[in-house]
Amino acid sequence: MTIRKLFLLPGDGIGTDIMSEVKKLIDWMNKELGTGFEIDEGLVGGCAYDAHGAAISDSDMNKAMAADAVLFGAVGGPKWDKVPYDSRPEAGLLRLRKEMELFANLRPAICYPALADSSSLRKEVIEGLDILIVRELTGGVYFGEPKEITDLGNGQKRAVDTQVYDTFEIERIAGVAFELARTRDNRVCSMEKRNVMKSGVLWNEAVTNIHAQKYSDVKLDHMLADAGGMQLVRAPKQFDVIVTDNLFGDMLSDIAAMLTGSLGMLPSASLGSPDPISKKRKALYEPVHGSAPDITGQGKANPIAMIASFAMCLRYSFNMTKEADIAENAISDVLQNGLRTADIMTEGNKLLTTSEMGDAILEQLANLSK
Ligand code: IPM
Ligand code: MG
Repeated sequence: MTIRKLFLLPGDGIGTDIMSEVKKLIDWMNKELGTGFEIDEGLVGGCAYDAHGAAISDSDMNKAMAADAVLFGAVGGPKWDKVPYDSRPEAGLLRLRKEMELFANLRPAICYPALADSSSLRKEVIEGLDILIVRELTGGVYFGEPKEITDLGNGQKRAVDTQVYDTFEIERIAGVAFELARTRDNRVCSMEKRNVMKSGVLWNEAVTNIHAQKYSDVKLDHMLADAGGMQLVRAPKQFDVIVTDNLFGDMLSDIAAMLTGSLGMLPSASLGSPDPISKKRKALYEPVHGSAPDITGQGKANPIAMIASFAMCLRYSFNMTKEADIAENAISDVLQNGLRTADIMTEGNKLLTTSEMGDAILEQLANLSK
C-alpha cells in the first residue's frame, strides 16, 4: 500500500479546532478508501514558543521537510504580542515557507452559490466568481535584506525593509501561473507597481519575456497593483489567474477572500519546485484566515477553509483528483443544504458548531464516495 506522509501543524487559536475536523476526514479515508495517510503532528507559532522558545523547533522543521505534505492551521494571538520579533508566531510560518522553498502560493477565491448573499458586494457582482491568485511567497519585501530599525541618535529611528526580486524568481512564479491558467480559462493578469518601483519594472519585463518564450498561447495582461485592487472590488469576475509578488499578493488575496463572503472559506496551497527525479514537490496547505483567538475552543470556527485546504492537498500533492473533487462538492452541498457556522450564518439557515460542520461534510463526502 502507498504510504502518504502528512505532517500536521495545527498551531494556535482555532488552528486546533479546525484541524480536528480534517483529522476526522483523514481517519475516514484511511479506513474506508485505504488511502494510507500516515499522520505525525508538531507545534508551530505561539504554542511552539511556549514549549521550546522558538516559533518552530528544528526537529519539527525536519519533519516538515521530510513529509509528503504539511497541513498548517493558523498561528498567533495577543498572548505572544511581547515575544521577541525573531520568535514571534508568524516567524514559524515564514521559516517553513523559506526553508521548504515554497515559492508558489495558490489562493483560489471561489464563490459558493449558496453564499452569494453573504458577500459585502452585490450578488450579481460575485455570483459564479472563480479566480486564482498566484502569490510569490519566498522573496520580495518580506524576506529582503537589509531589514532593520536603526537608531539615528537624534531621537529618530529609521526602519528599512528591502523589496528585492531576481529574474529567476519572477520567471518561475509566472511559469506556475501560466501553467495553471492553461487548466482554467487560459488568462493571466500580472500585477506590480512599475510606475514607482524598480522591482515592478523587472517584474513586468520578466513576465513579458517568459510569456513570449514559452506561454504565448495564454492571454496575458498587466495591471498596476493598486488598480488591480480596485478592479477586484469593482468587477472581480474579469479575472482568471492573477500573478503578483509577496506583498501585493498578501493584500490582494485578503480582498479576494472577502469577496466570497467570509475569510473562513478560503484554502491555499504553497508549493515548491518539483524534484527533478522523483517529481515530488514540497507542499504546505493552510487556510487564508488567521487564528481568531477570540473564538477559540467555542465551536464557532468555520472548518471549511481547512477542509478545502486538505482537498487542495489531495489534488496537488497526491494527484487524487477524484477525492479532491468529492471533498469540494461535499462542502458545496452542505452549504446548499443551508448548514452554516456562525461566521456565515444568515436567516432561515441552520447554525452548526465547528465539529457539527465537520461531521456534516464528512457525511456528505461518504455519500458522494459510494
Ligand atoms: C498570510 C498571512 C501571513 C503573511 C502572516 C501570518 C505572516 O498574512 O499568509 O497571508 O503575511 O504572509
Ligand atoms: Mg495575509
